[in-house]
Amino acid sequence: MFSERIERLTGSLIREILALTQREGVISFAGGLPAMEAMPELDLAQAPQELRQYGTTEGEPSLRARIATDLSRLGRSCAADQVLVTAGSQQGIDLASKLFVDPGTPVLIEAPSYLAAIQSFRLFGARFIALPLSPQGIDPAALRAEIARQRPAFAYLIPTFQNPSGYCYSEATRLEVARVLDNARVPLIEDEPYRELNYKHVDHVPICAHLKAAPWIYLGSLSKTGMPGLRIGYAAASPDLVPLLVRLKQSADLHTNRLGQWWADRFLRNPDYPAHLERLRASYRARRDAMAAALDRHFRDFARWEVPAGGLFFWVQLNRPLDSRVLLKKALDRNVAFMPGEPFFPDDDRPRGFLRLNFSHADDEAIEHGIRILGQVVRSCLD
Ligand SMILES: Cc1ncc(COP(=O)(O)O)c(C=O)c1O
Repeated sequence: MFSERIERLTGSLIREILALTQREGVISFAGGLPAMEAMPELDLAQAPQELRQYGTTEGEPSLRARIATDLSRLGRSCAADQVLVTAGSQQGIDLASKLFVDPGTPVLIEAPSYLAAIQSFRLFGARFIALPLSPQGIDPAALRAEIARQRPAFAYLIPTFQNPSGYCYSEATRLEVARVLDNARVPLIEDEPYRELNYKHVDHVPICAHLKAAPWIYLGSLSKTGMPGLRIGYAAASPDLVPLLVRLKQSADLHTNRLGQWWADRFLRNPDYPAHLERLRASYRARRDAMAAALDRHFRDFARWEVPAGGLFFWVQLNRPLDSRVLLKKALDRNVAFMPGEPFFPDDDRPRGFLRLNFSHADDEAIEHGIRILGQVVRSCLD
């Protein structure tokens, strides 16, 4: 009755956990949710009436121009007609899946990688080539070897404050990865929703800015700096890919909602935008530090982690490979939620003992309380 791909449709563990965290009194470190109080006001009072009409598939011209200017400033020279406004960067992932993936298509990803990207690629039948990720990024030599061995349709990378690890590729790795992809002409899908959320200075020129020959898609989002509820993201792409992405978008939803695009354009052009980003960074930096301190108090004996330079997550590795899905059940009994690490790996023999902890959503007091309880839960499973 259904298409064969429906057999590959997996539920979203994140969505299921997020549903549980709506329960009264649950402290959630599970989602990648911005703090409600850190979001700008949603003031739509001045929205023009013309927004009621259909718009263009590519997106509102002024917003596309602004995004192209910002990307060019980052070093990736880009014209407005290379930008497609999407329903969050998640839609960019869906469009890229449709563009490149057939059943059995090899796709190169980091291990671990963003859960919902893995799900999307898997839905279309991808076969995963997973490269281990270190705090400096993937190993360019391993990338070269895998490309020579199995020629992936593309590499999907999250080089800046990665989800789930929080890692940020070094500049040397970025340059080398770009060189490897260029030499082999393997397309890059670079996904950067956390780019603006840096808590100290780091070098992070997008990898696509270094590309000279390989096709590329750069995904950005206003979900983490603005508001996720409006579903505004974008896909900028090398000129060869743009017309195909536009046609795929056309058949998906005609265009992204115009009200959200109108709001996003004003948000990015508001003279207060840089100050808003600074406030956001200051507030999340404080929460990151609160979580680092709480982890030091309650996890030090049995786990390790890096303090992330940006993004929204701690990636905690327990010294013993406990199944973190079992830990989650016990934690939820005590009203604390987190994301188990296993689903961020694509294979069946997934490493165990990883927890992804979000620090943007709970306040300092809840962070200390929740991490203490979580520490007790882990300890009770180690005894
Ligand atoms: C790496 C990554 N890509 C894409 C997304 C989707 O974001 P959006 O809200 O822009 O669709 C997320 C959301 O958490 C993410 O972490």
